[in-house]
Amino acid sequence: MSAEIIDGKALSASFREQIAQEVAQFKAESQVVPHLTAILVGDDPASAVYVRNKERACEKAGIQSTLKRLPAETTEAELIDLVQQLNADPEVHGILVQLPLPKHINETAILDIVNPLKDVDAFHPENVGLIVQGRPRYLPCTPYGIQQMILSTKMETGGKHAVILGRSEIVGKPMAMLLIQRGVGADATVTICHSRTQNLKEIVRSADIIIAAIGQPEFVTADMVKPGAIVIDVGINRVDGKLVGDVAFESVKEVASAITPVPGGVGPMTIAMLLKNTLAAARILTG
Ligand code: GUN
Repeated sequence: MSAEIIDGKALSASFREQIAQEVAQFKAESQVVPHLTAILVGDDPASAVYVRNKERACEKAGIQSTLKRLPAETTEAELIDLVQQLNADPEVHGILVQLPLPKHINETAILDIVNPLKDVDAFHPENVGLIVQGRPRYLPCTPYGIQQMILSTKMETGGKHAVILGRSEIVGKPMAMLLIQRGVGADATVTICHSRTQNLKEIVRSADIIIAAIGQPEFVTADMVKPGAIVIDVGINRVDGKLVGDVAFESVKEVASAITPVPGGVGPMTIAMLLKNTLAAARILTG
């Protein structure tokens, strides 16, 4: 049996179409144009591509987007200054600071001063706390997109074992919070594995849902996957000029019931959820 390929591009396109309709309706009712401002510091080529994709998606959905490009030598104080200006600007609803930041800038210090109401990434501690308490304001874009992909498979997640590979603040930890919440597309039993986990292969083999977010090319192999599991690949690794995920796609697709490709899987869904959050921010700030 070959797995269903979860087409992130197609799913993202249908979400974006729906969001574009909601944006048009919101604009007509409020006379307000939802506005996302992204900050890109330095010239990391991968970050430049992500930010460009986000800008394009905003434009297509009728959301205004502004990119603030700053040189790699920007100081922490200068960046704080810019974030504070955007916090105070009533015409900016969403603020996205593209990560990673250059090493001389303390990421936490920056993310902590973003106005939580404009924090469409849901990285601010207030927003993280609300997620942990099961009353989220915004859901972090990648876990939110993954939850929608799992829902698209129609697999019942209640009581299932979800194993997350990776304990990052952006994916692993918030993903666990979403999956243990009560409700549809959640109610799972969650294990987070990381670089110090013992018996990792055995744990992954017991998973009904595998979420691979460790940044190691083709780490998850077919022998680690229970037949019928759903496999979500968050990895984006460049190997010999080619993009590969954290999952050995060709062999794992013969064992899994559903699997996401790289590219064209999780990435496009992350962007769709960012648009959703930006519209939500515009509603919150103007409501
Ligand atoms: N870098 C990698 N993923 C993300 C993301 O979801 N948001 C931001 N701001 N930066 C990132």
